[in-house]
Amino acid sequence: MTVPVDRGASRRRFLAAGLAMAAGGGAALADPKNLPPNVPEWTRSLGEGVGARPYGRPSKYEQEVVRRTVPWLTATPESSVSFTPLHQLDGIITPNGLCFERHHAGIAEVDPADYRLMIHGMVERPLIFTLEDLKRLPRVNRIYFLECAANSGMEWRGAQLNGCQYTHGMVHCVQYTGVPLKLLLAQAGLKPKAGWILAEGGDAAAMTRSLPLAKALDDCLVAYRMNGEMLRPEQGYPARLVVPGWEGNMWVKWLRRLKVGDEPWFTREETSKYTDLLADGKARQFTWVMDAKSVITAPSPQAPVRQKGFLVISGLAWSGRGSVRRVDVSLDGGRNWRPARIDGPVFDKACVRFYYELDWNGEPLLLQSRAMDSTGYVQPSKDDLRKIRGVNSIYHNNGIQTWAVRPDGEVENVEVG
Ligand code: MTE
Ligand code: CO
Repeated sequence: MTVPVDRGASRRRFLAAGLAMAAGGGAALADPKNLPPNVPEWTRSLGEGVGARPYGRPSKYEQEVVRRTVPWLTATPESSVSFTPLHQLDGIITPNGLCFERHHAGIAEVDPADYRLMIHGMVERPLIFTLEDLKRLPRVNRIYFLECAANSGMEWRGAQLNGCQYTHGMVHCVQYTGVPLKLLLAQAGLKPKAGWILAEGGDAAAMTRSLPLAKALDDCLVAYRMNGEMLRPEQGYPARLVVPGWEGNMWVKWLRRLKVGDEPWFTREETSKYTDLLADGKARQFTWVMDAKSVITAPSPQAPVRQKGFLVISGLAWSGRGSVRRVDVSLDGGRNWRPARIDGPVFDKACVRFYYELDWNGEPLLLQSRAMDSTGYVQPSKDDLRKIRGVNSIYHNNGIQTWAVRPDGEVENVEVG
């Protein structure tokens, strides 16, 4: 059932029309015996008692809200990635079970009793912390996004993957609880020449990255909780490095060792990988910060528009250089921009949620969003990015995404020239 909506109508009228359609539109799928004036099934009998679900899980009707993989993308599931279902989420916090995973050698299952974090190298007192040692230290709570440097990496040469889960789903945003790294380093005592830190993971990949000391002393954490509970194994249980605003690869999981030195180690992950190959064959190295980026999560290819009329456009924006100050939305492929409404908390180096509401009568749209951050930086178009970066790269693609909305409400990943 379609309720015609006057394009000039007030927002209240859009809302009223939308609700009327929702009631009418939903009726086709509903079982009449559960609808008014009948007493629905769930009101006729007692429900499951408390204790039946010692660890709660989503409703059985939400089984489609899951991480997904792209099987052809990687050779093995151990060195692979699963993507956050951004199109099915709202607000800024990613539920723990839906945070994308990126492992280079599978999920290490670390026994917390055997967990140790070693700090050594250019320190006065080499130290080994147990998990209990870490938990006894003063702790902080911080909400940060984590984005893999390879997020949107398939899109450098043109529109590829049909869904924001796949084009942008290597990002999550959770609240971490952990110990400031500077506190741990102060306990070990830095020697005067200290300038870099090697972080090593305890998984079979033994992931290693060099971290400049200034960043380590600024805002890095050794986190052991996410969204209140202990880290999930997928996210590095029992402890991981949190490197706010910087590429996900540096957020070493199952963190086992921090070595202090006076120069970078030039590990595999900062030479052959996680460097950005330019058009002239040279590569940028140590491009740690994730620049401002945004994406419309709905409508998007996996979340088509089901009804004409009042439509909420929703998306996420983030910046590794500070906070998101503004998000603009375009309905016509970037010709005209209008400010979106940011709703919910705005934190430094965290995701923000934005909305743009309109009355949609079935006209084709070219939806785009662009983020502006507290440094004044504006998210670039893909073409502007390519002018500087070429198309050889995999990493650090923060170009503006375009979704084409067709008259039937289907949505497709496209590029505008
Ligand atoms: N740490 C270890 N020890 N092993 C890994 O494979 N992958 C890195 C980083 N830390 C990795 C790791 C990469 S490339 C990313 S993007 C993030 O972890 C992903 O974090 P997540 O799995 O919590 O999303
Ligand atoms: Co990564």
